[in-house]
Amino acid sequence: MLWLLFLTLSGLGGSVPLFPDPGSGRPQGGIAGTHDAPTGRWPWQVSLRRYNKGLELWQHVCGGSLIHHQWVLTAAHCTQREDLEAGGFRVQVGRMRLYDHDKPTNVTQVIRHPEFNQSLSAEGGADIALLKLEAPVTLSEHINLVTLPPASLKVPERKMCWVTGWGYIRLGAPLPPPYQLQEVTVPIVENRVCNQLYQNSSNSFGEIIKDDMLCAGSEGQDSCQGDSGGPLVCSWNCTWVQVGIVSWGDICGHRDFPGVYARVMSYISWIRQYVPPSPGS
Ligand code: ARG
Repeated sequence: MLWLLFLTLSGLGGSVPLFPDPGSGRPQGGIAGTHDAPTGRWPWQVSLRRYNKGLELWQHVCGGSLIHHQWVLTAAHCTQREDLEAGGFRVQVGRMRLYDHDKPTNVTQVIRHPEFNQSLSAEGGADIALLKLEAPVTLSEHINLVTLPPASLKVPERKMCWVTGWGYIRLGAPLPPPYQLQEVTVPIVENRVCNQLYQNSSNSFGEIIKDDMLCAGSEGQDSCQGDSGGPLVCSWNCTWVQVGIVSWGDICGHRDFPGVYARVMSYISWIRQYVPPSPGS
């Protein structure tokens, strides 16, 4: 997950990112970036796997979240290769560390949103997919479901929410062993503001941030490669509600490019076509 500490040199007509000294150790909270997530805090976080023949390993490719005993919510672009069907994926639930006592579960069904466009990928929107697990998981201290929002939920601008994952922790820097789940708090950025930021930097005038997307992040606080499909959650009255799915973004942790998420509220009725509400949620 992602953090990129960008010190900006301005006044030269552009900004030049400087990276922190890689020898300065792991970030431990503070002004920028992620830190190790405490055990049991994000029990719905899952790791989506594909088999890597060379490594002989079910390799982490994306995050996801448990929304039902037998269903995982993820990003459609994580399931993108058309030749890959359910048998090409597995899901590891209930672990803080990747590959630690690995026992990934088979996936029996992959349902991509019909409006997801393979060639536009995440940036085209509808970046949402459901994975059905072979067998229901047993809930425990380490495995639990995240609450879905009502379709009408409005997420206030600047509300601090959380994103979790095993993605890159810096530009070009994969999470090092022991691959502990990372968490970072990110402020919600209004769609209009986010669209403006992306337009300014790309000299484009079209709508970049669509209505079914949601932006969050600030300088040094963002998701990054490998976090895709994972949950963005906000707390209301002590309940964590998943409002976003990690989808895309330009440069991780750059102040001019907030992370872009699939807006879960836009897809509640689609999810409910396949996934029944769980008792108590
Ligand atoms: N597309 C990336 C993935 O597949 C997620 C990128 C998120 N980027 C960002 N700046 N928030 O893992």
